[in-house]
Amino acid sequence: MKLQRIPALLLAAALAAQAAPPQKAELPRYPAPKNLDFAQVAGSLHTITVNGQSVPYRAFEHIVYVMKPADTRYQIMNVYIPEAYFQGGSINGFTKDTAPIFFPNNVGGYMPGEAGQPETDSRDNFKPSGPNAIAVALSQGYVVASPGARGRTEANGRAPAAIVDLKAAVRYLKANDAKMAGDARKIISNGTSAGGALSALLGTSGNAREYAPYLRALGAANATDDVFAVSAYCPITNLEHADAAYEWQFNGVNDYEKIDISMLDYRVQRKTVRGTQTAEQMRLSDGLKNLFPAYVNSLKLKNAQGVPMTLDNNGNGSFKAQIESMLVQSAQKALDEGKDLSGQTWLTIENGKVKAADFSAYAKFVGRQKTAPAFDGVDLSTGENNLFGDAQTQAKHFTAFGAQNNTVQGAQTADAATVRIMNAMNFIKRGGTQHYRIRVGENDRDTSLAISQLLALKLRAHGKNVDYALPWGVGHGGDYDLDELFAWMKDVSTRK
Ligand code: DHB
Repeated sequence: MKLQRIPALLLAAALAAQAAPPQKAELPRYPAPKNLDFAQVAGSLHTITVNGQSVPYRAFEHIVYVMKPADTRYQIMNVYIPEAYFQGGSINGFTKDTAPIFFPNNVGGYMPGEAGQPETDSRDNFKPSGPNAIAVALSQGYVVASPGARGRTEANGRAPAAIVDLKAAVRYLKANDAKMAGDARKIISNGTSAGGALSALLGTSGNAREYAPYLRALGAANATDDVFAVSAYCPITNLEHADAAYEWQFNGVNDYEKIDISMLDYRVQRKTVRGTQTAEQMRLSDGLKNLFPAYVNSLKLKNAQGVPMTLDNNGNGSFKAQIESMLVQSAQKALDEGKDLSGQTWLTIENGKVKAADFSAYAKFVGRQKTAPAFDGVDLSTGENNLFGDAQTQAKHFTAFGAQNNTVQGAQTADAATVRIMNAMNFIKRGGTQHYRIRVGENDRDTSLAISQLLALKLRAHGKNVDYALPWGVGHGGDYDLDELFAWMKDVSTRK
């Protein structure tokens, strides 16, 4: 079922993008708050049915989480609390004092993300149908706080606005810990793609002083902003090195199937465009591919067996073998579940055992989705160029390679400090957030598999508990395995 789901939804999205969409009214804006006191927020009682179970909860919506907001369409948070916690009850072993706070963001494409709501069917083409993560969280006794965040399509939403907003929302929860059900020492962040990158960044950069001036300017609550655990689906992170990683994976694969991301009716839309790389794009691909081994080697990482993770000048070596072993694991699980892998020509399967995965053949098989450079476009046309623009400048470069190969008159490069504070890799240290769950679909071509692999390896090198897998047949998406996600959340949050 997973195999079919994402392509079908993409097709539906492409068709929907062609038809005239129903116009949705402007999102409402809310006044700046008089204080950041949760006790002053009025709640209302609702009930949602989740997998046949009736779940009463109180909703506290559109809470502006900073004193000096820049855009209250997005700098708001929805808080949902199981009604049982107002009656002294317990759910799933949690009480009003011990329930972790599930903190899902809805950011996609680095565009603005709205505060989420519990829904019994998926809220857009990105998520599978059925109860969404917020509804499932409530049914399992989690308090939910879903923050909105500004995004790149607004002049005041460019980097680092989205991560600053999420941190401000965390600070609100910490400052109100005594006044709100749920344990603000147990915040579990969740997000997909750009939202997954932000979720990971929220984990690694907890309380980092680099964000303090931005938080102060917004009048964020005076509290810490570290979280307890991170769930990240297909994080589009490490943008400084994502172009080189992409060409290390896809160099030589020149036919592409691009997904154009845009906003329609306040929802992220994805549309497919096919083509073949030009000679110039192939040249850029070669140049980028050659940058990747030095980067990987500079990280001095080891896998769980203690093998140093390296690449030679041709891009071969133990790091490539590590990704191949992750693909073998993914395929073996699928095979054990009875899936037919006979068409997967990049795998070697003997007697029901997946013996090997050939990464180059895999790249050809899944296909290129972005042209070189995938992220820092030489013509400043990507979403990430837009992300690193500023209030006056629509788009900028953010890598030396992009700037050197620039084709746009008067193009600027973002300042290094801003680029740095958008990358989860740059803040990994001992201590801080201990638990990370990273899932990237085996079929995901939005960024190289190397990006999440390096994130997982670097986190482990700093003593973190990392649960990392590449679920078979899954493309670019998230929240597709809620049973497993919530089992992991229960495990890490109740572990001694
Ligand atoms: C997303 C996808 C991308 O390919 C990208 O470059 C950035 C963000 C997303 O789905 O959020």
